[in-house]
Amino acid sequence: GDTGPLAGRRVVITAGPTREPIDPVRYISNHSSGKMGYALAEAARDAGADVVLVSGPVNLTAPAGVEVRTVETAEDMLRVSSSAVDEGCDVFIASAAVADYRPETCAGDKIKKTSQEMALPLVRNPDTLATIAARDNPPFTVGFAAETADVEKYALDKLQRKKLRMIVANDVSVPGLGFNSENNAVTVFWPEGRESFGPDSKRQIAGHLMALIRNHLEAAG
Ligand code: PMT
Repeated sequence: GDTGPLAGRRVVITAGPTREPIDPVRYISNHSSGKMGYALAEAARDAGADVVLVSGPVNLTAPAGVEVRTVETAEDMLRVSSSAVDEGCDVFIASAAVADYRPETCAGDKIKKTSQEMALPLVRNPDTLATIAARDNPPFTVGFAAETADVEKYALDKLQRKKLRMIVANDVSVPGLGFNSENNAVTVFWPEGRESFGPDSKRQIAGHLMALIRNHLEAAG
């Protein structure tokens, strides 16, 4: 964008779930709809930023003026996000719900139901957010934390462990908020403070988050 408080800034945002294949017809995934990430992309665009949205499989239309790059797996998400950041990135926001584990192998043919029980070995996926934040000269990096218990404790732990500038904590145990809903309520933590937004529409929450990020970016110079 040419005008607005984030004019000339490049923002990369991850959104949606990932799918980790088990065989040609099955996968492991989660309930993320992508709505939070798409709302953030629109808020960044409206503030004048150039936005790349790295999106897992969702049923949403690409926001006008936003470059969407679609991915399937957590490994795709790392690769595509890394090259988007390589192209230049001032702010990186990870709102995607990335699968922490994937099946060790993807069966070449559909798995048959031959036995009463079956075990599926899983291996850890790469962490896009932690990898981007650990770069030399990282962008202003913002993570999300979806928790069902001890939200503050886990959020602060992720802020420090992944070396983030901010973390947006979602209590996803509250019905009607968080995953796959229109609304959300969050508490943002940074090393010196915190601020809560909502319950409100994801669009409103996204606007508040972008304004907060913008203020911190300006303060950081
Ligand atoms: O998509 P919606 O239906 O709108 O729902 C929004 C949301 C609830 C998915 C979103 O607001 C949210 O909380 N996203 C993060 C969900 C999550 O999986 O959090 P986590 O605590 O597992 O991961 C912590 C952070 O690390 C997140 O920023 C995540 O994007 C990132 N991560 C995690 C694992 C991994 N392999 N790579 C990552 O980048």
